[in-house]
Amino acid sequence: MPGILLGDIFPNFEAETTIGTINLHDFLGDRWGILFSHPRDYTPVCTTELGRAAKLSEEFKKRGVKMIALSVDCVEDHREWIKDIIAYNDEEPGYTLPYPIIADPNRHLALALGMLDPDMKDQEGMPVTARCVFIIGPDKKLKLSILYPATTGRNFDEILRVIDSLQLTATKRVATPVDWKPGDHVMVPPNISEEEAKDLFPAGVCKRQLPSGKNYLRYTPQP
Ligand code: BEZ
Repeated sequence: MPGILLGDIFPNFEAETTIGTINLHDFLGDRWGILFSHPRDYTPVCTTELGRAAKLSEEFKKRGVKMIALSVDCVEDHREWIKDIIAYNDEEPGYTLPYPIIADPNRHLALALGMLDPDMKDQEGMPVTARCVFIIGPDKKLKLSILYPATTGRNFDEILRVIDSLQLTATKRVATPVDWKPGDHVMVPPNISEEEAKDLFPAGVCKRQLPSGKNYLRYTPQP
């Protein structure tokens, strides 16, 4: 099974989309990007996911993240399906979906990017795409990937939360603990010595005592 590993340059490609032909790297420019895939057009879970992603598009924009979706159907089908997604979201007439959808009718991209769900076939017996999330950094490297089966819808609030962590930890030498949200305390990673931590975190480092006596649970205010 081919796959893209964290830190790999995300493969570039040309594709037909609902806004015309794009070159992925040109489309992303020097911004962060999210590519999220869907099993098929006109499927219920996908419709709710694309609707939610559209509702949250301003949040992605605030974080400088360009959005692009993919589904294994043709552009004409995508354009018709988008009308359902807009209706599902109760948007006003004239509303346009705030991100393009890539067409992948031959499943070339799904195969190349390791996105096919082997357990899920469509009515014609063809494999469909799993629900992949790829977060791509401004350097075009893969920063995060999440892979859900077709039968489980994603949580786009969680995706925004991980983007907040990725963007923070891209520039600050910190790590974010379980369920972290922006503004919460962050953790001092194990590769930072006590001495270095004093310099790096002038707001202070607080340690939680543990039975092992090892001082590895170190918190500091979010820099
Ligand atoms: C859906 O989007 O609802 C869906 C797609 C493929 C398999 C199961 C559910």
